[in-house]
Amino acid sequence: MKILGIESSCDETGIAIYDTEHGLIADQLYSQIELHAQYGGVVPELASRDHVRKIVPLIQQACQEANLQLKDLDAVAYTAGPGLVGALLVGACVGKSLAWALDLPAIEVHHMEGHLLAPLLETDKPEFPFLCLLVSGGHTLLVDVQSLGDYKILGDTLDDAAGEAFDKTAKLLGLPYPGGRYIAELAAQGDATRFKFPRPMMNRPGLDFSFSGLKTHTRVAWEKAQDDCKNEAETQQLKADIAACFQLAVVDTLTKKCLRAIKQTGHQELVISGGVSANIALRETLAVMGQKHRFKSYFPSMKYCSDNGAMIAFAGAMRFTHKVTAQNALIKAYPRWSLEQLS
Ligand code: KG4
Ligand code: ZN
Repeated sequence: MKILGIESSCDETGIAIYDTEHGLIADQLYSQIELHAQYGGVVPELASRDHVRKIVPLIQQACQEANLQLKDLDAVAYTAGPGLVGALLVGACVGKSLAWALDLPAIEVHHMEGHLLAPLLETDKPEFPFLCLLVSGGHTLLVDVQSLGDYKILGDTLDDAAGEAFDKTAKLLGLPYPGGRYIAELAAQGDATRFKFPRPMMNRPGLDFSFSGLKTHTRVAWEKAQDDCKNEAETQQLKADIAACFQLAVVDTLTKKCLRAIKQTGHQELVISGGVSANIALRETLAVMGQKHRFKSYFPSMKYCSDNGAMIAFAGAMRFTHKVTAQNALIKAYPRWSLEQLS
């Protein structure tokens, strides 16, 4: 079975083809980051227009890469939500129309289920059930995953998502958008012990997160300490130290909540996915923690941490082979959509 996957929920147009016998046979990605960088964040209308411009050429390139024609496909999967409604509608219209024209099933995929299943594309992959930490620009979720479509949300963010906190802190420090990667690079040169930043919601029971207080704390610390810098070199070092202290606070909070969830659920396998799962400090901390507390962590490869078409083609293939595809006669997009609503 060959499933075409279409991702267009935010600022990446991703097109891939997953073959249930041979794995991924095409993977095309176009990132709009440069387009939005000048505005310091994603401009929804520009995102939709750029998806319109790129989506069909990328489908053609994917077919060329896999050396097949559209008529050789068995199903079309597309991200139906959550995300920016205009951007989602581009993928939904193209996906559904293509499926109708080719007389194929159209599969609506939940973007976060795509992230959640992405580590299953790897050779060393987890088995159901497992615990999953989803950390992206829009979500911070701890999910008890029993099987495909059987998801229970154990923890959520009360305000900013982890990636959003990285991006806002990067903006504060004058770094480019999206800033997670730049904070991580800067943090590697900083002293994470210089300031003691708060660990939000750690002294309360439960598995929810909150990052907006940490963001404010970071801003106040940065503004206050800048006044004491005597030259540019000191300011640059301060910037790196602030990035390191901020990153440590986020990583510490995320990993300790994972450990709490592992103890609560009894899972021994932890999947971490979404853009922030590319963070090296997060990966290293979980590796050490896993050895001590006997759990194993699974991450997607770096290129599948952020948004991509491969995870949507793969999630579509899983749903198609397990016959859990919602059939919908209309072209629909769901800007807000809980993982718990899936079947
Ligand atoms: O999953 P994703 O590509 O898009 C959403 O679905 O939101 O995640 C993007 C987020 C951004 O906030 C970005 O700054 C963050 O992932 N990110 C990182 C790193 N690489 C990307 N955050 C921390 N460290 C990184 N190395
Ligand atoms: Zn995403």
